[in-house]
Amino acid sequence: MSTASSRLLRIDASARTDGSHSRRLGDLVEAQWLRANPHGERVRRELTRGAPPHIAEATIQGFYTPPGQLTPALREATSLSDALVAELRAADTLLIASPMYNYGPPSALKAWVDQIVRVGHTFLYDAQGPRGLLQTRLVVLALVSGVPGTLGSAVDFLSPHLESVFKFMGVQRVATLHVDGTSGPADHVEAAMAAAERDAHTLFA
Ligand SMILES: Cc1cc2nc3c(=O)[nH]c(=O)nc-3n(C[C@H](O)[C@H](O)[C@H](O)COP(=O)(O)O)c2cc1C
Repeated sequence: MSTASSRLLRIDASARTDGSHSRRLGDLVEAQWLRANPHGERVRRELTRGAPPHIAEATIQGFYTPPGQLTPALREATSLSDALVAELRAADTLLIASPMYNYGPPSALKAWVDQIVRVGHTFLYDAQGPRGLLQTRLVVLALVSGVPGTLGSAVDFLSPHLESVFKFMGVQRVATLHVDGTSGPADHVEAAMAAAERDAHTLFA
């Protein structure tokens, strides 16, 4: 059982709100987190209600400019990244609820990733190479796909992408839950959700 200072950041990436399986899976995980952290704080970011813009030339220029040398234009170009990184760093647990779109992440989620993987903030390069700076204790990836057997297979470019990104930023513990076959029979979906819920139960023990 953790302390009152526990904070969960939940990111939802499905473009759907009605009947969204990834939101349902996210809810199951969030409920387990809440059981373990009854006094914890929760912050939720709906990416498809306000998808982050793609990073632009000025954003990248701003990322690689020392803070003291930022012009007002570069400051503006990196201000959303500042806010998203601060939101991420304030949480000790991150939950991402996302579908697979075309074998990979929804573009809104990829846009968010491009805003938060940031030199000097969430990683840096030193003489030994790249080093992660993120202190997030646990990242839970709650992932769904329509076709059975897709997640965890050779054509899953969603789970390994997200796992690699968070490991690159220094997160030691990344737990991935899969519910696939959401376009198929309801009994398959129910069984997969029940199995994921059992797995979620052990995450925050
Ligand atoms: C644009 C789009 C692309 C999709 N691409 C894939 C895919 O590559 N593989 C797959 O198994 N399912 C794919 N699906 C199915 C979704 O992953 C599935 O319907 C999932 O349940 C959607 O998440 P949601 O229920 O939270 O909205 C796709 C769905 C959409 C809308």
